[in-house]
Order: sequence, then C-alpha cells, then structure tokens
Amino acid sequence: MPVTRRNPPLELLCCPRCRGPLAEGAAWSCAACRIDYPAIDGLPWLFPDPQLALGEWQARIHGFLAGLEAQATRYRAALDGGITRASTRNRLKLLSAACADHARRLRALLAPLGATRPAAAPEVYGALGMALPAGQGLTSYYANLHRDWCWGDAENESGYRILDAALGPGPPGRTLLLGVGAGRLAFDLMHRRGPQPMLAADINPLFLAVVQRLFDGERLELYEFPLAPRDLGSHAVLRALQAPTAAPAGCHFVFADASHGPFAAGVFDTVVTPWLVDVLDEDFATFAARVNGWLRPGGRWVNTGSLAFASDEPARRYAIEEVVELAAAAGFAGVEPREERVPYLCSPASRHGRVETVVTFTAVKNDEVPVPPPPRRCPDWLEHADRPVPLLPDLQGRQLELRVLAYVASLVDGKRSVRDVARVLVEQKLMAPGEAEPAVRSFLARLHEEASSRGAASLSL
Ligand SMILES: C[S@@+](CC[C@H](N)C(=O)[O-])C[C@H]1O[C@@H](n2cnc3c(N)ncnc32)[C@H](O)[C@@H]1O
Repeated sequence: MPVTRRNPPLELLCCPRCRGPLAEGAAWSCAACRIDYPAIDGLPWLFPDPQLALGEWQARIHGFLAGLEAQATRYRAALDGGITRASTRNRLKLLSAACADHARRLRALLAPLGATRPAAAPEVYGALGMALPAGQGLTSYYANLHRDWCWGDAENESGYRILDAALGPGPPGRTLLLGVGAGRLAFDLMHRRGPQPMLAADINPLFLAVVQRLFDGERLELYEFPLAPRDLGSHAVLRALQAPTAAPAGCHFVFADASHGPFAAGVFDTVVTPWLVDVLDEDFATFAARVNGWLRPGGRWVNTGSLAFASDEPARRYAIEEVVELAAAAGFAGVEPREERVPYLCSPASRHGRVETVVTFTAVKNDEVPVPPPPRRCPDWLEHADRPVPLLPDLQGRQLELRVLAYVASLVDGKRSVRDVARVLVEQKLMAPGEAEPAVRSFLARLHEEASSRGAASLSL
C-alpha cells in the first residue's frame, strides 16, 4: 500500500522561477509565471523549465541505456573473438547478460519518465551535451542504492548516528532533506525521529524512482557493477533492494534543483544537506544564503558529508575554516564542525572501499540575509528556443575546430593509413608536411582511447 504518494503540503513549496505561491490541480501551477509543473512518476517536477529538464533527463536516460546495450553487444562480440579460456568466457557471458538485463530493468523502472525506445543513436546522445549540472549524471552515486538498501547496514547506521547527534534532542519539525539520493537516511530519519512533514528532494529521477518505490514497500532488483570486483562472480551482482520495514507516512518526494529550490521561504524548522554542498555547481556561500532563506528564524541547518569542493574556480574550493566563515556570513550561528571517520562504500563485492572523515555541523539561523537570485542558467538565446543564436567569436572558433575534427575523422575509411590521412591534410593546405603526421597520429590515438574508455565507463556505475 503506497504511503508516500500524498502530495506535499502546498505551504512548503513555491514556484522555482518567481518564488511565488503554487496552486494545485491536476499538476502544480504558478499563476504569475503562467506555467504548469507536471507530476512525473507521480511526483512534483519542480524545475524552472519543466519541459526542458524533462527532455534533458530523457536524453540522458536514452543515452545511458543505449550505451549499456552497446556494452552488452561488445561483451558478446569479445566472446566470438576466439577466446577459449572458460573463466574469461564466463566473465564475458556474465557481463553481457547483466548489461542487457540491467538496461531492460532500468528501462522498465524509468518508463514513467518516457524512457521507452530511444529516438536517436547513442552517438547522437553522446555528442550533444546536456544543460543539466554536468556533474550530475543518471548514475552518479549509483552505488549508494546498493549500500542504502542491501549491504550497507554498518555505513547506514553510522550516517544516521551522526545526523541524530547533530539534530540534538528536540523534534526536527518541518524538515527539508535536500539531495535525498538513495534515500536511506531519509527513511531512518522518518522512522526514528519522525519529522512531520518532511520534504525530500533530489535532481536525479533514477534515485526518486527507486526511493519512492522502496518507501512504498516494493522490492527491486538491480545490478551492482563493483569498481574493483572481488572475484569473477562479483563483476555483475544482481542485488535485491528493499526497505527493512514499512515507511512511516509524511515523507514527500519532490524533483528539484537545489539552486532553484522550489521551497517556501522561512517555513522549515530543519534543513538537512547530506553529502551535498560540495557536489553542487553553486558556490557554497550562495547556497548557504539559500538555506537561510528556507529556514524560520532559529531554525537549524544540519550539514554532513565531505567538503571536497571541486569547483573550476580555485577560490571556491573552500577549506573547512572558510566554510565556517561563509556559513556565519550567511546568517548562521554556532557553526562548530565535528569530524568522524566512517566506512564509505565498502561493498562486499568490491576490493575498493574507503574510510572517510566526515564533517558535520549544526548551524542555527541567527540573521536574515538577502536571498540570492536564481543562478542564470543560460543566455536569452538559449532560454528562448525561437531567438537567433549569435555567432560569437568563441563559438566561431569552436565551429572551425569541430569541422576540422569531423573532416579528419571522415578521412578514416578502413584503407588510409595515418600517413595517407596526413597527406590529404597537407594537400588541402590545412597543415605543414612536418606537422601533419604526428598531429593525425595523436588525434586518432585520442579518439581511439576515448572510444575504449567510453565503453568501460558505461559500466562504472
Ligand atoms: C553524494 S550524493 C549524496 C546522497 C545522499 N544524500 C547520501 O548521503 O547518500 C549527492 C546527491 O545530491 C543530488 N544532487 C546533486 N546536485 C543536486 C542539485 N543541484 N539539486 C538537488 N539534488 C542534487 C544527487 O542527485 C545525489 O543524490
């Protein structure tokens, strides 16, 4: 019997575009923005441009599934390559069957998102990048699913214990858990501390597809492809994922991007961000100000996880001391980080696994700070599909680069050697004779390497 499908209380939500109130009907809508936010897979899909986000996720899903199927074919082809050793044949058979079956299972699971048959070839999905946060792929943190719902009792317990201590003795009250991931922490929090109600949000539809089903008592079977398989049989392990007990009512799942959080201002008693702040594209200082905006005065922000900021901008790869200062500047008091060493993703099927020093702090909202404007996702001509795309100098340069790449790649016809391809470039006056051969060689080596690692990467879930 589903317990999670009740719609979230409207007073906890707002429009992700204008932060005005949402109305609820067949879907959610904002009268000021004249926009409808649909229910996808039964849950509010509260992205600022809901159709664009849906299209981006569908393309990611299709690209990933097509890659998985191609990987199954590659394993089958390797079997036909004259390999006679029984153990190697068994490993390849296991992997080819697992990849094909995994694609089938994910396709069924993600059908409510429109993950039916892909409309384009995998190469098209691979070539055309998506505008969602680049680091957040469909299977980013996929291993968490198996840890949370299969083999990770010790890790899950240590994660919950840290959160429980950080929350202190009082009731969590109205709670927002942002970056719910595979969902076990949300489950344990609901069970053991009973925040009422709790909004649990994530950007990744694979997680919410799994989590809401597990909360509803379903049992799911999905493959684990460990990073460093312990033995032959561990290269692909079909795991059963299931919640240990029935989930209490009151947890509401929402699709959302933290940087465009559709969460009402000043209504939450507690905001929990587990293993989130350093994976966001958004600057920690800005995000901290957003969290401030969602909390009521005196409300608490509990942050736990790593602080391995990987921003392109060196100034934003903060040290713990800077994090404390920035949280204080965002209106929080009492930010005293604690550190604990915990096991992290130690799958029994893998030789890989680590111990991580987790940083946790509880910050109390002391002052109001201005709510940061939503990040500007893209220029107008990207936001509005009917506006002309300006031919800017950097785009022009890239255009030329891509044309050259496509031209050189097109010269590969199964007959020409590296020298032959280089000769064409010289004849076309694209390169000087001395440079052409080494350049073609390194270009083709790179293409070859990328193609092989793409095949391997599709399995590194
Ligand atoms: C490192 S995982 C942590 C998952 C979970 N909190 C845990 O502790 O196991 C980061 C989570 O944040 C989610 N996430 C990343 N960027 C996000 C964003 N911009 N908005 C919402 N969720 C995001 C990811 O999908 C993923 O579930």
